[in-house]
Amino acid sequence: MILLSISVFLGRFHPLLVHLPIGILIMGVLLHWISKKQAFHAIRPAVSVTLLLGAVSAVFSCISGWLLGMDGEYDPDLLDRHRWMGIGVALVATLYYLIYIKKIPLLPQGRLPYLLSVILLILLFITGHLGGTLTHGEGYLAFGGDEESNVKEIRKIIPDVQEAMAYDDIIQPILQNKCYSCHGPSKQKGKLRLDSKEAIEKGGKDAKALVPGNSEESELYTRMVLDMLEKEHMPPKGKPQPSEAEIALVHWWISSGAGFDQPVKALPQEEHIKPLLLALQQDQIQDPVKPDVPEQPVAKAPEQALNKLKEIGVTVVPVAEGSNYLSVNFLASKSIGDHDLKLLEPIASQLVWLKLNNTAIGDSAMHIIGGLPVLTRLHLDNTQITDKGLSALQSLSRLQYLNIAGTKVTADGLLSLRQLPDLRSVYFYKTGINAANWPQLKQAFPKAILDTGGYYLPVLEGDTTLVTQVK
Ligand code: HEC
Repeated sequence: MILLSISVFLGRFHPLLVHLPIGILIMGVLLHWISKKQAFHAIRPAVSVTLLLGAVSAVFSCISGWLLGMDGEYDPDLLDRHRWMGIGVALVATLYYLIYIKKIPLLPQGRLPYLLSVILLILLFITGHLGGTLTHGEGYLAFGGDEESNVKEIRKIIPDVQEAMAYDDIIQPILQNKCYSCHGPSKQKGKLRLDSKEAIEKGGKDAKALVPGNSEESELYTRMVLDMLEKEHMPPKGKPQPSEAEIALVHWWISSGAGFDQPVKALPQEEHIKPLLLALQQDQIQDPVKPDVPEQPVAKAPEQALNKLKEIGVTVVPVAEGSNYLSVNFLASKSIGDHDLKLLEPIASQLVWLKLNNTAIGDSAMHIIGGLPVLTRLHLDNTQITDKGLSALQSLSRLQYLNIAGTKVTADGLLSLRQLPDLRSVYFYKTGINAANWPQLKQAFPKAILDTGGYYLPVLEGDTTLVTQVK
């Protein structure tokens, strides 16, 4: 046991240790070549010492590499090639040294040391490259970085989620985005691969990763919901984590039998899973939406106006680093009135996101908001506003997101905003709007996602209105 931990410990040093023979041997070869020039004869004694050090460090690298390779966490083919190339480096380096110091007199001298020096350089390059591919994944040299910086989230376009394939279109992309980097073609941590049906069914070194029909017994799922502080949590702490929705979808897929070739519509769908599935579908509909920060640059907001807002406890921050566009949040300033909202006027050309939710604001202040020409996101939830106030917002031609949840607004109020061209999301649970209004609203806002909290009105092609209860 102790012996095992020592060897694991030594193995860990391999990635560090390998830099020694690479550096020393290249140095040795260069010294060797240079020393042939008359002017550099003096450095000859240094050549044999350098070559000796290089050969010895190459042997040590082989030993540490062998120990690391026993972990079995690497692609076996790649590992094999890297291993034999590494041993080749150590052998050629030793031979090169012995011939250089003429310890093997039987072999012909002359050009042989040169030939060996060239072979050594080639071997060093190949071994190093294979080693890099083992730790960093395919193509790391070409992209010049760790695999994670190159990873882009893969998403399948799902026009109709019920017709989509549960594994291929929903589960596989999650595994690809969050697990393949360590359980895929170039690495198999825990001897587990997750990039094919056969591999997933085979499982890892300790247990079956997948028990169809039983998420709680499937490590594929349980490891994701383990406490983040647990060593077994997957993906390991600090790596990109799946979202709650993704975890719930994996649970749903395993619980429903973990089929690899079934369409979504063939699987049972409990109420809580429906909105998650629907969200996959809405994704690509929301994609072409205009950015919610204007593309054209804007001048900096006047410092004085910002200070006045900050004085009354309002949070004002740029929407992105280096941007002059502003996000303003009144949450911390409870008792604000029209007078305070007037402070927004000097920053009207910069103000794109405004949060007034849970404040005492009412209808009388809405004409000020209506005068904010670039506003794209507005939170008015849990305020005193009514239909009358809302109609003052018709001038917000760029508004994309509106939250009026928890207000007295009715369908009439919301309908007064039907002309807003970019309005895509409206949240209105706990308002005067009720189920009877939905068909009318759906027609008035054909492109918008109307969210009532308990009910979604999904975006549908054509003019059919479908109302799905999700809670
Ligand atoms: C950054 C690397 C990394 C990522 C990303 C990663 N894992 Fe792992 N995984 C490991 C390591 C290391 C082990 C072995 C140590 C252990 O068993 O805890 C392991 C082991 C496992 C095992 C146990 C295998 C066995 O039988 O011993 C499962 C199951 C697993 N991972 C699932 C996942 C899932 C599912 C994801 C994606 C959501 C994922 N892992 C992402 C590094 C990773």
